[in-house]
Amino acid sequence: MIQIDHLHKSYGSGAEAHEVLHDINLTIESGEVFGILGSSGAGKSTLVRCINLLERPTSGKVLIDGRDVTDAKGRQLADVRAGIGMIFQNFSLFQQRTVLRNVAFPLELNHTPKAKREERARYLLDLVGLADLADRYPSQLSGGQQQRVAIARALANNPSIMLCDEATSALDSTTTAQILDLLRRINRELNVTLVVITHSLSVARNICDRVAMIDGGSIVEMGDTEALFANPQSDILKTLIADAKVTNHRHTHASEVTDEHENAQTKEEVK
Ligand SMILES: Nc1ncnc2c1ncn2[C@@H]1O[C@H](COP(=O)(O)OP(=O)(O)O)[C@@H](O)[C@H]1O
Ligand SMILES: [Mg+2]
Repeated sequence: MIQIDHLHKSYGSGAEAHEVLHDINLTIESGEVFGILGSSGAGKSTLVRCINLLERPTSGKVLIDGRDVTDAKGRQLADVRAGIGMIFQNFSLFQQRTVLRNVAFPLELNHTPKAKREERARYLLDLVGLADLADRYPSQLSGGQQQRVAIARALANNPSIMLCDEATSALDSTTTAQILDLLRRINRELNVTLVVITHSLSVARNICDRVAMIDGGSIVEMGDTEALFANPQSDILKTLIADAKVTNHRHTHASEVTDEHENAQTKEEVK
């Protein structure tokens, strides 16, 4: 379970201080697929980075399974991070490493013996459907295959939580559906809690049990996915749903929130 309690996050200090998250409160239950939906700049990535402590909240608390980890350091921080896998829009694979050695990388960091980490990496590659590609390099794979490698790597330490930050935003709709199916399977079969960050209404609808809509650094509404989409309360979600319907009529496929900054997203840190 992830609890976020009165979390605020500002960048800069003094007169330069800029609050990007404002009084965030939410509880994500174990085993849930929880969506954080919002347009570019809403604060989604900052919020997930506060969950795995890549960023520290300016105030407020983050609790994982009831333990306050807000100020975790050293061994406790390493334990928290090992329990949380993360995947990104740009896959963030190591280009100089084979697929197998990408997946084994987190196990190298914690000094798992070579034979054991290879065995685990092969098991995970089989799980994501890439057993045959162990010796290839990332540049030799399609986007969907690269994201599968990233998913396998994120599972290396057997995490109970996986954070997915725009994980399908660089993929076409067919590949997106396949990756969402895989993530659902990981949620169900491995009982991994998924936090799905997305600007896409269709992704949120497809995979999330519950969704929090975030706008301008605040949660503007939250609820069961179907109820939320059937009866949106916030102006922003009403507008996005109405826009999606119009675009749907024009293009006959699901619309997404426009996002001019998405490709300029900063290089994300792994682990
Ligand atoms: N390291 C940083 N320093 C200063 N401002 C930042 C930093 N990271 C993000 N921001 C700002 O915080 C806001 C939210 O960004 P982000 O969490 O990346 O939004 P999203 O993922 O929803 O697009 C944006 O205005 C962004 O410019
Ligand atoms: Mg982001």
